[in-house]
Amino acid sequence: MATELQPRIKRPLGGAQQSREPTAVADHAIELGAVERTFMDRRGVRVPALAGISLKVARGELLAVVGPSGCGKTTLLELICGLQAPDAGVLESEPAVLMPQRDLLLPWLDALDNASLALRIGHVPRAQARERAASLFAELGLKGFERAHPSELSGGMRQRVAFVRTLLSGKPVLCLDEPFGALDAITRAEMQDWLVRALASTPRTVVLVTHDVEEAVLLADRVLVLSPRPGRVAGEIDVALPRPRGRTEAAIVALRERALGLLTGAAA
Ligand SMILES: Nc1ncnc2c1ncn2[C@@H]1O[C@H](COP(=O)(O)OP(=O)(O)OP(=O)(O)O)[C@@H](O)[C@H]1O
Ligand SMILES: [Mg+2]
Repeated sequence: MATELQPRIKRPLGGAQQSREPTAVADHAIELGAVERTFMDRRGVRVPALAGISLKVARGELLAVVGPSGCGKTTLLELICGLQAPDAGVLESEPAVLMPQRDLLLPWLDALDNASLALRIGHVPRAQARERAASLFAELGLKGFERAHPSELSGGMRQRVAFVRTLLSGKPVLCLDEPFGALDAITRAEMQDWLVRALASTPRTVVLVTHDVEEAVLLADRVLVLSPRPGRVAGEIDVALPRPRGRTEAAIVALRERALGLLTGAAA
């Protein structure tokens, strides 16, 4: 591989501690410069997933990423979390945790043990870890299901248990891959409201992948629109509106239409 194509990966970027105030060391929690990622399929055919992605995410910012299926959104999150490495470009990020698109709960553990897994790995005693998870269970409508195993939970409940597990990781950057995709409309709206409140009280940097343009403009500080594969940045929309936001507000409806326009324009 040519030297100039060697990726440069650094982590963590700046201090690991979350702060609303950018420090002089680094203003951004995440920074990507000209990142490329290409897969090789089983037949040895190159599948370029991401091409020339340059992106900065400020500390405490909620960036929503939308784009057509297969354009590299999950790949982008896995790169930020260090689960994959770019083939070229520069990637720097504060420690980041991924909430995967599928819940990936362990079938032999009950809901509380699944939710507190990251704490247990960090050597928090089981009783204490379960207690911390239990307080979030109540807030997320999971009360009464603490001892249920994943097979006894609905898809939406499993998704919420996985969400608690992600929050309890304590990492300053949350990468959420379609976190509310499996939820019915009412639960989805409740979870969106809850996320807004939770981030207001404990700010974190969030990269939220969603297929739902309305969800993106309701929740995000900025919406990044990716083109069809290989994913490139097709456009960006700043959402400088106060929270909580209503889905019928004229400004939200207008931004949703703009994001849809960028998506369809990129796909054309
Ligand atoms: N491990 C892999 N090996 C080979 N190809 C892969 C691998 N992971 C992803 N790809 C390919 O890279 C492209 C981007 O995949 P990715 O999962 O990032 O898309 P996505 O935007 O998250 O899609 P979706 O919205 O359907 O979840 C796809 O064409 C996919 O087939
Ligand atoms: Mg995906």
